[in-house]
Amino acid sequence: MSLHLLHSFPRLELVGAPTPLEHLPRLSDYLGRDIFIKRDDVTPVALGGNKLRKLEFLAADALRQGADVLLTAGAIQSNHVRQTAAVAAKLGLKCVALLENPTGTSAENYLSNGNRLLLELMDVDVVMVEALHHPSEQLAEQAIRLEAQGFRPYVVPVGGSNALGALGYVACAQEIADQSEGVVDFAAVVVASGSAGTHAGLAVGLEQRLPDSELVGVTVSRTVDAQLPKVTAIQQQLATSLELHAKAPITLWDDYFAPCYGEPNDEGIAAIKLLARLEGIFLDPVYTGKAMAGLLDGVSQHRFRREGPILFVHTGGAPALFAYHPLV
Ligand SMILES: Cc1ncc(COP(=O)(O)O)c(C=O)c1O
Repeated sequence: MSLHLLHSFPRLELVGAPTPLEHLPRLSDYLGRDIFIKRDDVTPVALGGNKLRKLEFLAADALRQGADVLLTAGAIQSNHVRQTAAVAAKLGLKCVALLENPTGTSAENYLSNGNRLLLELMDVDVVMVEALHHPSEQLAEQAIRLEAQGFRPYVVPVGGSNALGALGYVACAQEIADQSEGVVDFAAVVVASGSAGTHAGLAVGLEQRLPDSELVGVTVSRTVDAQLPKVTAIQQQLATSLELHAKAPITLWDDYFAPCYGEPNDEGIAAIKLLARLEGIFLDPVYTGKAMAGLLDGVSQHRFRREGPILFVHTGGAPALFAYHPLV
C-alpha cells in the first residue's frame, strides 16, 4: 500500500522542513517509559500549530479558485483562526472570521489577549456570533454577504477539518514514519481530537506506514459517541480520495476533556506544568494539556495496548496560555 496519490493534490509549501521529532528524557525518567514528541507546535508561521499543514492544501485550493478572502470560524481563542489569518496575510488575502465565546466567560484576558490579540495585529475582520451551532451554514451565509460586496471568499471549515485539509496529517504521518524508521518503534501515538481532521489524517497515514502503532485520540470537546462519526467520516473520505482502504479502528478516549470544550481542568493544568518544568515545553489549556493528561493517565492505568515508546503529537496552542491567565 502507498500514499503516492498525496502528491497529486495542489499544495503550498508552508511548513517547509520536517518539524522535529524528539525524545523527552526527563519526562521519560519521571514516567519510567520512553516518551517522544512531534513538534508541530513549532511549524514556522505565526507561533506555530497543526493548522498550517491543513492550510497547505486548503490555501492552494483557495488560490486555484481565485479567492481573495479566507473566511473561517472558531472560538475567540482559536488557534485555527490565527493560523488561517497568518496564511491569508502571507498570500495577500483578506481574512474574515466568525468568532464565538464558547464558555461565555467575561475574563478580560480571554476576550482580548492571546490569540485574539494576534488577530487584531493581523487586522482580521471579526464577526462575533452568539454561537457556532451550525458553522457550515453560518459560514455559507457570511460567504453570500461577502459576495454581495464584491469579494470572492473561500470557506475554510472549522479547524480546517475536511478531507482536503486532513491530507496535511497524512503527510505528517509520513514524516513521522520517515523520522522514526530504524530508530524507534512507537507502541502508541497520542493526539488531541477536536474537529477531527488531525486525528483522521494520522489514522489514514499511520495505517499505511506504521500499522503496529496504536493511535489514540484524546477528545477535547465530545464524548466518544459524538466524536467517532466525525473522525470516521473524514477517515473514509480521505481513503476514497487517496484510493486506499482505511480499516484501522479509531480509538478515542473521552475521559480528559471535562467540564467542557475551552474550560481548563486540573489534570490538564498539571500536565502543562509538568512539561514546562521537566522539558521547557509549553502545552495549552484547551487541547494539548488535556491530551497530555490522557497520555500520563494512560501510562499509569496501563491503557495502551502494548509496552514501548509513546509519541505525543504536539499540535500547538501555547498562545492561548496568555488568554487563560491566571491558570487556576
Ligand atoms: C492546539 C490544537 N491542538 C489540537 C487541535 C485539534 O485538531 P483538530 O481540530 O484537527 O482535531 C486544535 C484545533 O484547533 C488545536 O488548536
